[in-house]
Amino acid sequence: MDDPRGRLTRDGIRIHEPADFAGMRTAGRLAAKILDEVAALVEPGVPTEALDAFIEERVNAAGAKSATIGYRGYQHASCISVNHVVCHGIPGPKVLKDGDILNIDVTVIVDGWYGDTSRMYVAGTLARKAERLIQVTHDALMLGIEAVRPGRTFGDIGAAIQTYVEAQRMSVVRDFCGHGLGRVFHAPPNVLHYGRPGTAARLEEGMFFTIEPMVNLGRPETKVLADDWTAVTRDKSLSAQFEHSVGVTATGAEIFTLSPAGRFHPTR
Ligand code: MF3
Ligand code: CO
Ligand code: CO
Repeated sequence: MDDPRGRLTRDGIRIHEPADFAGMRTAGRLAAKILDEVAALVEPGVPTEALDAFIEERVNAAGAKSATIGYRGYQHASCISVNHVVCHGIPGPKVLKDGDILNIDVTVIVDGWYGDTSRMYVAGTLARKAERLIQVTHDALMLGIEAVRPGRTFGDIGAAIQTYVEAQRMSVVRDFCGHGLGRVFHAPPNVLHYGRPGTAARLEEGMFFTIEPMVNLGRPETKVLADDWTAVTRDKSLSAQFEHSVGVTATGAEIFTLSPAGRFHPTR
């Protein structure tokens, strides 16, 4: 897709203009607000398709568009990934049980700008091991964001996440990554959640991308089910994920998808 403004680095990463941050802020805030609102519906006995229907209604009520409906044949306004589902869980009739943990991932388009964010929820009682997994995954994302500033590299982000997660004796999923975004959903670069400091492309002011680490209690390997979307841990261990859309500023990162209600991390 052609974009008249800004420029591309030699790695094909778009450098956006200062005025473009406003568009991302509006889109990101809407996605985050919808994740705030859906929290009240998450409880045992609720089918994940009911959460998705609510999300679709909120997207439409805001005059926005869902980025996922119609994306490569996907038909829902969210991905809902329960327990050992790593990502891209398809909302359906299956009901949540007490103690289930789930990631809800929403991407909206507002005035052509994409806001992409996900966070974790619990239905009913949160078990200790699940709580730790969620905590570590959240903190890993925030450590990755703290590594963002001009002059550092994408490898620095991955290394910050991987070092922390593995020190907690959990594993980082390798099979899925974050991505550039802006006026497109998925653009260069691939934002890996593992790696070595100083490697990969250098960060520049005006880059927009997601960081969205998936962390497993067991081994990192995943497989995709026969529906061609649902990714699960091969060892059936619990998996968690948090995602923010960010922009590189002169001094660090701006998080576009901050929770207006201050409820990004549900267990805090
Ligand atoms: N929101 C997801 C991401 O973080 C992408 C979902 S694509 C879908 O990149 F088609 F599965 F919805
Ligand atoms: Co994303
Ligand atoms: Co997402």
